[in-house]
Amino acid sequence: MSSHVIPSLAVPLRARRSGPLKGVGAVPGDKSISQRALILGALAEGQTTVSGLLESQDVLDTARCLAGFGADLRRQDTGAWQVTGTGVGKWRTPDAPLDFGNSGTGSRLVMGAMATTPITAVFTGDASLMSRPMGRVVQPLVQFGARYEGQGEKVLMPLTVHGAAHAKAVIAEIKTASAQVKSAMLLAALNARGKSIIGQTSLTRDHTEKMLTAFGAEISVTPQGAGEIITLTGPAPLKGCAVEVPRDPSSAAFLMAAALIVPGSEITLPAILLNPRRTGLLQTLIEMGADITTANKRSGGGEEVGDLTIRHSKLRGVTVPAARAPSMIDEYPILAVLAAFAEGETRMLGLEELRVKESDRLAAIAAGLAANGVACSITGDDLMVRGMASVPGGGTVITHMDHRIAMSFLTMGLASQNPVTVDDVAMIATSFPTYRDLMRGLGAAMEAE
Ligand code: S3P
Repeated sequence: MSSHVIPSLAVPLRARRSGPLKGVGAVPGDKSISQRALILGALAEGQTTVSGLLESQDVLDTARCLAGFGADLRRQDTGAWQVTGTGVGKWRTPDAPLDFGNSGTGSRLVMGAMATTPITAVFTGDASLMSRPMGRVVQPLVQFGARYEGQGEKVLMPLTVHGAAHAKAVIAEIKTASAQVKSAMLLAALNARGKSIIGQTSLTRDHTEKMLTAFGAEISVTPQGAGEIITLTGPAPLKGCAVEVPRDPSSAAFLMAAALIVPGSEITLPAILLNPRRTGLLQTLIEMGADITTANKRSGGGEEVGDLTIRHSKLRGVTVPAARAPSMIDEYPILAVLAAFAEGETRMLGLEELRVKESDRLAAIAAGLAANGVACSITGDDLMVRGMASVPGGGTVITHMDHRIAMSFLTMGLASQNPVTVDDVAMIATSFPTYRDLMRGLGAAMEAE
């Protein structure tokens, strides 16, 4: 049985009203890009060198699982890793079940990456990952000839995937607004003979496509309606290369939000990833009246990056259209907290994907707001939060093993009348292990219970 199934001791933390936040925050590497760098490195021939890798629990869990397929992954220095891959189609059957911990991205992308190689792997994880639907990933992989055995209708872990021998290219349309599903299909297509044509009806993050190009795959992208069509020719001989990981905008979001609501704050976050498929929150904050400036826009590791300066701002409520959701899907918990400090109502539309994240985030957000005296309502898949001149706080928030729920409500406590307690901050290490030190360094008051 997975060691993650045994509950560890909860680590509560309390955040209280803080003085101005000041300084420069070194946000760690992007989680999505870090995961992909290791996975593509493990698939490619030869050596991949990664710099700026996020060394969080999710990424380390993926690294350990990739070693099970026969890749060699070595840490050389902080954030500097060398991966020696096997070549596409040469992964071997792991000796033991793969425990992906909390990582949806790691597990789902690896399911795709092995689906067209005739090997078998068993996927497990912690209680959160084991409650997340895997059918959305493995069902489309059946088109390539892969087979699977999971638990129940939602195809929960433990899940066994049998990769296909002699897979052929497919034509598929993905209606789920999920980069993980799209990426799993693209990684499967790498070892399928012929031209796979993968359509998606929305524009989700495109790091897999960009990185596949850098590793030498023949891949092209054409817009189609509100989405796009991606063509990939297999078998694709991926060649190891150098990957420079930019800093994570989804982690930066917590620092940005804190600076916006704590009076007198001014912080700078250098070299943050500004890929347009990830900047929905930035756009929303500007619409809310946030004082954020972007300087030094440049290219870093094949992605756009820039330096952000954020100052305390008076925010106003806005309506966030459903079409924007894919470009800020991980940022709704922190936006909901910011909305509590804004003038008027903030309406966030089309949030169905939030129900299948590390927790049911719609429910966790609503409960966390209510526990701290903030009025909100959910109608269908839309979330409405009523802003307040002064946010009461004083509540204890249940995180449900969700790192982003934990960081969002700690942020609230930095500017609410009364401190906010989060029941367990252990999961923050899955994406942002330096969070607490970084926040304290900027002047945030956070203390153990
Ligand atoms: C991710 C895609 C998103 C996001 C997750 C990371 C990725 O999930 O929520 O944190 O790296 O591809 P979905 O694909 O389920 O939307």
